[in-house]
Amino acid sequence: MLFASPITPLVPVSYNKQQALLGKMLFFDPVLSADNKISCASCHSPSFSGADNKRFSIGVFGRIDKPMNSPSVYNAVFNCRQFWNGRANDLKQQAIMAAHDFNEMGMSDDVLEKKINSIEKYKALFKKVYGVNYIKADLIYQSIAEFEKALVTLDCRFDRYLKGDKKALNEDEKKGYYLFKVYGCITCHNGKNLGSNSFQKLGIFIKDINITEGNDRYKVTHKKSDRYVYKVPTLRNIALTAPYFHDGSVKTLKKAIELMGKYNLGIEIPKEDVLYIEKFLKTLTGKTPLILRGEYEEEK
Ligand code: HEC
Ligand code: HEC
Repeated sequence: MLFASPITPLVPVSYNKQQALLGKMLFFDPVLSADNKISCASCHSPSFSGADNKRFSIGVFGRIDKPMNSPSVYNAVFNCRQFWNGRANDLKQQAIMAAHDFNEMGMSDDVLEKKINSIEKYKALFKKVYGVNYIKADLIYQSIAEFEKALVTLDCRFDRYLKGDKKALNEDEKKGYYLFKVYGCITCHNGKNLGSNSFQKLGIFIKDINITEGNDRYKVTHKKSDRYVYKVPTLRNIALTAPYFHDGSVKTLKKAIELMGKYNLGIEIPKEDVLYIEKFLKTLTGKTPLILRGEYEEEK
C-alpha cells in the first residue's frame, strides 16, 4: 500500500528578492539561447501557467524538443526532484541542463558568460546584486532558480476550502474531491502539490500500454522496474496546462482523468464521476505569482 500524505494548502517560499528579480529578467531573455530567439519563457510562459500549449516545444534553430512535454515551472520549487524522471536534484541544476540542452537553448557556459558580460545592463545589475565585476554562469543559474522559488500559486479555491472556508467549493466540486479520495487518486497525487513527491509507473494496471517510453526513471537508475516510471506530476493549475502526460499525448483533462482510472487504478470511471473530478481539479487554479504582476515591479 502506498502511504498518502494529506493535501495541504500552498505556503510561500522565502527567496532573495533582488536575485529573483534579476532571475526574472534572465528567464524572459532570449539572449540566453544559441540563436538569440528562445528564452526559458518560450516553453514556460505565464500565458500558459508556466508551461506551453504544445505537445512538444520548439527550441533553438527550430528544433523540436522531443520526446517530453513541457511541465509548468509554477510550484516546481516543491518538486522532490526536477524533470519527469528526476534527473536534476534542484532548480539550479535543472536550469544548467536547460541552458546546455541541444534542443532547448543550445548554450555552453563559456558562450553564455561572454554574451552576458558584454551587456551593460547585466554588468550593472550583477554588480549591484552580487557585488561582482565579472558574471560567472553559476550566478545566472542561481538567479533563475531564485526567481522560480517565487512562482508559487497561492490561494486557489481548494486551498481556501482546506483552510476552513467551506463555501469556497460548491457541492459538485466537493463531490469531485470526495471521488478523488475514494477512487484512490490521492494515493499518488497528495501533499501540498498533489503530486511531485514520488515516482510511479504509468500503467500499473495495463500490460501493453500504448504510449511512447520517454525519458523515464529507467534512464536515471537503469533499474528494469523503473521503465515507464515518472515523477507524479503536480495537479496544481492543471486546468491550464494541456496537453497532458509526459509525452503530451492527451489533449483534455477529462481524457487524462479517464486514462488515469484505466492505467493506474485499473477501473473504468463512470463519465459522470469523471466530470465531478474535473470540476474539483479546476478549483486548483491559484493566483498568478506576485513577482509576475505589474505592481511588484514598482515596489522594488
Ligand atoms: C524548448 C523548450 C524549453 C526551454 C527553452 C526550456 N525548457 Fe524547461 N522544460 C522543457 C521540457 C520539455 C521539460 C521536461 C523535460 C523532461 O522532463 O525530460 C522541461 C522541464 C523543466 C523543469 C522541470 C519541471 C518539473 O516539473 O520537473 C523546470 C524547472 C524547467 N524546465 C525550467 C526551465 C528553465 C529555468 C529554463 C531556462 C534556463 C528552461 N526550462 C528552458 C522545455 C523547455
Ligand atoms: C499509482 C499512482 C497514480 C494514481 C493512483 C493516479 N495517478 Fe495521475 N499520474 C500518475 C503519474 C505517474 C502521472 C504521469 C503520467 C505520465 O505522463 O507518464 C500522472 C498524471 C496525471 C495527470 C496528467 C498531469 C500532467 O501534467 O500531464 C492527471 C490530470 C492525473 N494524473 C490525474 C489523476 C486522477 C484524477 C487520478 C484518479 C482517478 C489519478 N491521477 C490517479 C500517477 C498516478
